[in-house]
Amino acid sequence: MKVTHGLWTSIACLITFGPVMAAEKVVTFHRDVTPILYKHCAECHREGEIAPFPLMSYQDAAKRAEWIVENVTHRRMPPWKAEPGHGDFFGERRMSDEEIATLTAWQKGGAIEGSPGDAPPVPKFATGWGLGEPDVILEAPYDVTVPAEGPDIFHHIVIPLGEAAGREVAAVEFRPGNPRIVHHAVILVDSAGLGRAKDALTPEPGYVTGGGPGVSLSGILTIWAPGVAARRLPNDVAIDLPKKGDVIVQLHLHPSGKEEKDRSRVGIYFAKEPAKRHIMSRPFIFGPVTLDIPANEKAHQVEASVKTPVDLWMTAILPHMHYLGKEIRVTAKLPSGEERSMIWIRDWDFNWQDQYVYREPVHLPAGTEVKVVGIYDNSSDNPAQPRTPPARVLFGEETNEEMCLAIFQAIAETPEDSDKVRRALAGNILKQIRDPNVSKDVVDNVVVRLRELGRSELQSELRSRISTLLEPKKQ
Ligand code: HEC
Repeated sequence: MKVTHGLWTSIACLITFGPVMAAEKVVTFHRDVTPILYKHCAECHREGEIAPFPLMSYQDAAKRAEWIVENVTHRRMPPWKAEPGHGDFFGERRMSDEEIATLTAWQKGGAIEGSPGDAPPVPKFATGWGLGEPDVILEAPYDVTVPAEGPDIFHHIVIPLGEAAGREVAAVEFRPGNPRIVHHAVILVDSAGLGRAKDALTPEPGYVTGGGPGVSLSGILTIWAPGVAARRLPNDVAIDLPKKGDVIVQLHLHPSGKEEKDRSRVGIYFAKEPAKRHIMSRPFIFGPVTLDIPANEKAHQVEASVKTPVDLWMTAILPHMHYLGKEIRVTAKLPSGEERSMIWIRDWDFNWQDQYVYREPVHLPAGTEVKVVGIYDNSSDNPAQPRTPPARVLFGEETNEEMCLAIFQAIAETPEDSDKVRRALAGNILKQIRDPNVSKDVVDNVVVRLRELGRSELQSELRSRISTLLEPKKQ
């Protein structure tokens, strides 16, 4: 009985001490909260940017205090999906526990304003090109119009490489024309004219997909998201642009509540000196293509792994799933036995996918086993579930199909090494579709989906085998 009594006393003490302690150190908006909002929220939550409301003034924040605390406590805001300790990335948007505690204390203490004189100066946000005037500017040839409301749109603009063709590139910077609606942008290079052909299928300029680029990736130049500054590649490294071809700008557009237009631009910066090492023109991309997700399963796990045939330096990673994705994790097991976590996203959100750039390129020696594991929730409990009732889901680019891909930007030492990587990745797909445990309809689906993505180099390697695979179907 005494023990219980003691426990109650200490709880009572906690309760009575709570307000007393709060009174000792009053948390005010101007002194304590503003610096946090400026640092972690302002890049998106200010006039003219992507977030639906500003968080720059006391009025902006006080009426939303509870909502703010709820979002930062669950780490839904600021949006940053990579778990700490699993990859060391540039531009990490992560609040410290103290910062979250300060916001919470402010809200619980009654969202007190305090003295405006205590506030730090309003930050200056960059206007113009962050890396200086580009050598070539590729501008969308038309305005993209986004209606006031409706689902997010994935619009693709095809722009010829022009003067940038055949050049060694040290940096690529994207500038949204209208940051109110550009959620993020993926800048792709397309040497085979696949995007151009897709664009020509409809009279409207550009083309729209459910989320993927709609063509086989022949290279990712950069990915833009609000607040993520453009960076130059390490000094001796460059991206080689093809001698002919286009840039495809994929805009992920988010309606703002009124009709808006966008005209985005891509700045290209040439390498000042001939590069010693080159970013592989095709990304190091792999994942389970024979995935087969049963309806109503809440935690369906898939995985794939591939061995690097040569030494590689990974500069960035873009994990990719669709709406059923819950979790994705990429690891690398080095020949020494050492295991490295390349990225872990524990709370996958289709709308916040990003390319994560390593602070230092991660060296993976030849013989490293790179593995991706994905978990899907294909039940109706998943708020992002696109189907009612849930149905079986196979591999594909449409948003009612699924993918689980690790897409690395990588440096290989020589063009021969890049070729070896390409063959290893193609071989990995072949191995998967030849697995006798995989059912025939799953294999047929993969073959058809890969064909739809176009005639990439992977395709030409696979073409003859694919046609043999297709043969039995025709009879
Ligand atoms: C990278 C851009 C970005 C940053 C940084 C950011 N937000 Fe947001 N925020 C958004 C967008 C966009 C939305 C609209 C909903 C969505 O797309 O998820 C949003 C929505 C919200 C919402 C409403 C969520 C809901 O329940 O609908 C709150 C509250 C919020 N943000 C608070 C914050 C706070 C507080 C910070 C800083 C600690 C912050 N945000 C940082 C972009 C951002």
